[in-house]
Amino acid sequence: MAYENILLEIKDGVGVLTFNRPKVLNALNPQTLEEVGDAVGRIADGGEARVLVVTGAGEKAFVAGADIGEFPSMDSLKARDFARKGQEVFFRLERLPLPVIACVNGFALGGGCEIAMSCDFIYASEKAKFGQPEINLGIIPGFGGTQRLARLVGRAKAKELCMTGEMIDAQQALLLGLATKVFPAEALVDETMKTARALAAKGRTALEAIKRVVDCGMDVDLKTGCALEAEAFGVCFASPDAKEGATAFLEKRKPKFL
Ligand code: COA
Repeated sequence: MAYENILLEIKDGVGVLTFNRPKVLNALNPQTLEEVGDAVGRIADGGEARVLVVTGAGEKAFVAGADIGEFPSMDSLKARDFARKGQEVFFRLERLPLPVIACVNGFALGGGCEIAMSCDFIYASEKAKFGQPEINLGIIPGFGGTQRLARLVGRAKAKELCMTGEMIDAQQALLLGLATKVFPAEALVDETMKTARALAAKGRTALEAIKRVVDCGMDVDLKTGCALEAEAFGVCFASPDAKEGATAFLEKRKPKFL
């Protein structure tokens, strides 16, 4: 599939997916969702990327939400399908078996905040703004926002943000645990790529296991989660990366993981 609304580049094990409709602040229309779904499939099947960075084109926005220009032509059933499609694509992004970093350079509103929350963690520019402003359009988040926000920042704060539609800045997002690091705008991309490259040099099996065990563990009780962890610990132990890690340590050199 050729892409019109996103860019996808993979270099030295790091994939970068860029939402690329800066004139409408990278708003998400159905075509963009299709393209993201396809790109996620390529990343999953290609095996070339060890880490994925998700970002937005232009100075102003990561993604300013669903494309409101599409709303007048949507009836209730189409809107439900649009929400389901977005949810399905974001689940696929969330389940990629590699680290996914949201690099939030500006507005991450509505669907933009929902995409960022489907990534493993969020690095934000000091200029970033987050929010679920759907209430101001008389609707609610439809791409998993009510659910992921509550899991990330707690029920009361999620309800407050979704009910008021209030935008929060990067420092507030950091305090809430929505963003994990905040950088000056001019340093954001470099810092994100530094972390992406560092992760690309780590063992794939272990990275995938961390992601799977943390994510699955959030949906089950502590004992079941710890049982999953022990299983995954065993699997990692048997991997060539584990041999290389211990050998490199004993030989006082840097490990070279598969
Ligand atoms: N869907 C479609 N177009 C959008 C959009 C969206 N979600 N967000 C921004 N745009 C368009 C604007 O219509 C404008 O287009 P125009 O130049 O043809 O008029 C362009 O992007 C620039 O946005 P503008 O509103 O002029 O920028 P701003 O700096 O004044 O405000 C925002 C920025 C993000 C606060 C404002 O655009 C906004 O509130 N957007 C909608 C956010 C939203 O409700 N998202 C959830 C949707 S469910």
